[in-house]
Amino acid sequence: MKHRVPEIGVALAALAIGAWPAAVQAQAWPARPLRIVVPFAPGGSTDIVARALGARASEGLGQTVTIENRAGAGGNIGAEAAARAAPDGYTLFMGHVGTLAINPALYRKLPYDPIRDFAPITLAIASPLMLVVHPSLPAKGLKDVLALARSRPGQLTYSSAGSGSASHLAGALLDSLGKVDVLHVPYKGTGPATMAVVGGEVSMMFSGQGTSWPLVNSGKLRAIAHTGSKPIPNAPKLASMNESLAGYEVINWHGVLAPAGTAGEIIRRLHAEFVKALGSPEVRSRLTEDGFQVVGNTPDEFARFIASEKDKWAKVIAGAKIPQE
Ligand code: MLT
Repeated sequence: MKHRVPEIGVALAALAIGAWPAAVQAQAWPARPLRIVVPFAPGGSTDIVARALGARASEGLGQTVTIENRAGAGGNIGAEAAARAAPDGYTLFMGHVGTLAINPALYRKLPYDPIRDFAPITLAIASPLMLVVHPSLPAKGLKDVLALARSRPGQLTYSSAGSGSASHLAGALLDSLGKVDVLHVPYKGTGPATMAVVGGEVSMMFSGQGTSWPLVNSGKLRAIAHTGSKPIPNAPKLASMNESLAGYEVINWHGVLAPAGTAGEIIRRLHAEFVKALGSPEVRSRLTEDGFQVVGNTPDEFARFIASEKDKWAKVIAGAKIPQE
């Protein structure tokens, strides 16, 4: 039976050893739908990954998993909402390199603590971004983009998913390592930011492959380079940014977390269900087609990964002198 109500004897024993209500709560869980807070607008990597995983995990959990888009402030609004939610296993967070590793160094004041406020469940995916431009921009490769930016200082623009998002840092690194001045225009997610390039509101963006690749194939965008260090499977001939800009690398990663204080038993079950979802052939092929590398690891490994990424980005932001928000 899925929704077991604890027997009175079990409940009293739990009370006697001081484990109430976590043990009882964990036994009855999940008794209603779960939600994953996505801190960006629909259409970007965070949303794509959360929807694919949520739909598959809901089968194993026997409950609907809904997606709640709480966009704004580079993901900080959604991250804060998830951090402050009741740690009862019904609110999850789709965290990523921006909210968990970049924003602590980029924002003077962060309304949550990426380490203290969350219980990691699993790293889900990692993927390089893709620099895409409006097809009218006279640039075929990164060298053309850099030359154009130098000849028109302060005139070219890049959109991002918000200040502190992976797409923002990718642009800030282009400015810093390329010694150019392409202006940042933040949106509330990769979805609207990519459409801003298609509509000609901005010149370029470092977009998620799942969002931008179909638009490149239909001729609405032109791909210039990717931000990884080895060829990407969907476009093996596409140049890497670091071929023209030494030291350039931005890997956008995403993972599932719960608010800190969520019962260990619930975390273990969520971990099992999300890792199963990541391993399912249809989720795997969907995510791989969208240019994501499927990962999956243990809560401890994910916690160590977040801590090391946070250190890495603090150094990158300080070294590249990226201004704080
Ligand atoms: C980012 O650029 O940080 C994210 O991919 C944003 C998003 O998922 O929309």
